[in-house]
Amino acid sequence: MSVLRYDFLWGGATAANQYEGAWDADGKGPSISDMCTSGSHTVPKRLTPVFEEHTLYPSREATDFYHHYKEDIALAAEMGFKCFRMSINWTRIFPTGMEEAPNEAGLAFYDRVFDELNRHGIEPLVTISHYEIPYALVETYNGWYGREVIDCFLRYCAAIFERYQNKVKYWLTFNEINSGIMPMGAILSLGTVKGYCGPVTEVPDEKQIRFQALHHQFVAGAKAVKLAHEKYPQFQMGCMCIFATKYPRTCHPSDVLLCQKESRIMNWFCADVQVRGAYPSYMNRYFAEHQIEIRREEGDDELLKEGTVDFYTFSYYMSACESADQEIVAAAAGNLVGGVSNPYLKASDWGWQIDPQGLRYTLNELYDRYQIPLMVVENGLGAYDKLEEDGSIHDSYRIAYLRSHIAQMEEAVRDGVDLMGYTPWGWIDVVSASTGEMAKRYGLVYVDKYDDGTGDLSRKKKDSFYWYQKVIKSNGEDLA
Ligand code: BG6
Repeated sequence: MSVLRYDFLWGGATAANQYEGAWDADGKGPSISDMCTSGSHTVPKRLTPVFEEHTLYPSREATDFYHHYKEDIALAAEMGFKCFRMSINWTRIFPTGMEEAPNEAGLAFYDRVFDELNRHGIEPLVTISHYEIPYALVETYNGWYGREVIDCFLRYCAAIFERYQNKVKYWLTFNEINSGIMPMGAILSLGTVKGYCGPVTEVPDEKQIRFQALHHQFVAGAKAVKLAHEKYPQFQMGCMCIFATKYPRTCHPSDVLLCQKESRIMNWFCADVQVRGAYPSYMNRYFAEHQIEIRREEGDDELLKEGTVDFYTFSYYMSACESADQEIVAAAAGNLVGGVSNPYLKASDWGWQIDPQGLRYTLNELYDRYQIPLMVVENGLGAYDKLEEDGSIHDSYRIAYLRSHIAQMEEAVRDGVDLMGYTPWGWIDVVSASTGEMAKRYGLVYVDKYDDGTGDLSRKKKDSFYWYQKVIKSNGEDLA
């Protein structure tokens, strides 16, 4: 007997900005990701407010879900998906984010997508905002730094809630809201980069601006949750965080304390606000030490309390260690999410340390703290795939990654965690968010698209496709 719920939400995850393409079709406006060039593991992608000729902007075509949605949803159904995580492109509905009325052609596109999912009995899980703030809001308000953006976001939420109230039950407010803790989050999530032109890795570290912008996202998210709960009681509203699991590098108390401190900022702060409904007291010291002052308006604190989420979701790719020893820090190759490497773990080709047991540990920590249903909405291995002449792709490394993580997830359920579902990232190849490349593939389905912009966008099943199909059919019992 499977340890998982009978209605476990097996599926896969995507995001409009990396998947949909059709960046200016049917009235869509430009989002921040449409303004980012391609990059690679060694050459960072860049934000260029002015379009550069002869430069590739990979989100603009991406892997073209816009024109392939029927075929892709049929592939998802063939694998047995119960759930399809996707996001709505804000600028397809409100091209600048500031219009009074939504763009009907944009709304109609998602009607077609939800109807197609429904026809196959697949439940959509919709991220409202996944790394695609309207670029006009960046230019007008410096992104989420401007409090005005809260109202723009709420207008967007009201439009999609009303339109899709009978088609979508599960919603996530912001993708990886805690990416705003890191400088790169200023581009990906907050849009606090008015006038910035350059590599995503060199955005200035403006903590005051980022934490103020995050406050606005907290308020906007809470208002959206409150609106949903009041008007659409059938909705289930979730938050979404990166969980960058951290271990002390040694059992030296200084490492342990540093690890606790870093984990609070990175992993717990945003979720504590969105799940518990208030700023945690440990942030006071952090704000004081970094001269951060959050401007709040009257009523903000009440709103945070009133708009707490029904379930918690997260992405989990890797873990890292924290060391208070400056020599170790200086010698260590950093991870995307900071820290130093763990001598017991191997890394992907992009240096992300692979740690399936960390997923079990994390699920237990999360459930102990929040006691609400959890869902792993991103997990997976970005890797170079080889397309054989006969069209097959033998991605045993990806199967090994997914297998070991699912096994640990099941251990966590045995430990007592209430787990709703699992949607591995980029179940079909999409553009990488951090590097803007196609070469870093996560998919169980291969898309013929390459970093020089070539490719006919045809879809091919990888070995992992057939493996995952078996996993879903057995409700996670058959991982062989
Ligand atoms: C998460 C994001 O950070 O990780 C996705 O929510 C992203 O948008 C995924 O694509 C994998 O990261 P990357 O940089 O390898 O694409």
